[in-house]
Amino acid sequence: MIDLKSKTALITGSGRGIGKEIARKLAQAGADVAISDIDLETAKATASELASEFGHKAIAVAADVSKAADVKKMFEEALGAFSKIDILVNNAGITRDGLLMRMKEEDWDLVLNINLKSAFLCCREAVRPMMSARSGKIINIASVVGLMGNAGQANYSASKAGMIGLTKTLAREFASRSINVNAIAPGFIRTAMTDKLTDAEKEKLSSQIPMAKLGDPLDVANAALFLGSGLSDYITGQVITVDGGLVM
Ligand SMILES: NC(=O)c1ccc[n+]([C@@H]2O[C@H](COP(=O)([O-])OP(=O)(O)OC[C@H]3O[C@@H](n4cnc5c(N)ncnc54)[C@H](O)[C@@H]3O)[C@@H](O)[C@H]2O)c1
Repeated sequence: MIDLKSKTALITGSGRGIGKEIARKLAQAGADVAISDIDLETAKATASELASEFGHKAIAVAADVSKAADVKKMFEEALGAFSKIDILVNNAGITRDGLLMRMKEEDWDLVLNINLKSAFLCCREAVRPMMSARSGKIINIASVVGLMGNAGQANYSASKAGMIGLTKTLAREFASRSINVNAIAPGFIRTAMTDKLTDAEKEKLSSQIPMAKLGDPLDVANAALFLGSGLSDYITGQVITVDGGLVM
């Protein structure tokens, strides 16, 4: 049984989807959670849902994590409420798909800033308090397309591959401080992000997955729970794929 009592976690983009399910799992295991999202209303709704379900602290924080000033303020609020951050989950992410020849520069910049620059900004804020505590868990939500590429997602797959490089570098920089930095690379998971796909597209995707089905946010949250707990203390710089066997 994983026990996160007296631990605190900040999860970006956790008003809904995979981030919300990760926050739920960490709260269920006993952690106090900071629900951060660009959409304050969903963050508030998720925080109050988790606080009433599990009975410990859950706060909502508004932040556009691609902006340094927002990230700084988000950490000030979370540290003000909890006085420490044991677990940081860099989950916020978007897609702006299109083939390279038609991809707009602003769609490249937006995706790279929200998916990748955000992780740099959040890690930079998180490591100082984690270094003082001489412990910490950073979990970056990447994607299988950061490992294998995907036609129509040059911006998105580059951002996720970048996240994997960031994960491995920070794992090396902070291993001696007992800060573990790992990534999860989900395959195709049922959320608002994949709801945009047609049934035919979903069927085509499923046919490429050895387990022949899309995953659920809970599948990703279970891996995050493991990486956020003491069970993963000797694991750093790794990418765990949660993809029904798509990449192996
Ligand atoms: N769904 C999948 O199949 C899948 C697969 C691989 C990886 N992922 C990754 O998992 C993560 C979560 O995806 P999801 O499917 O739950 O998506 P989602 O769209 O359901 O949720 C994303 C959340 O991020 C928030 N967000 C967006 N821009 C933000 C910003 N600038 N600052 C702060 N918050 C912001 C949104 O408001 C939303 O609550 C993303 O990083 C995504 O790339 C998803």
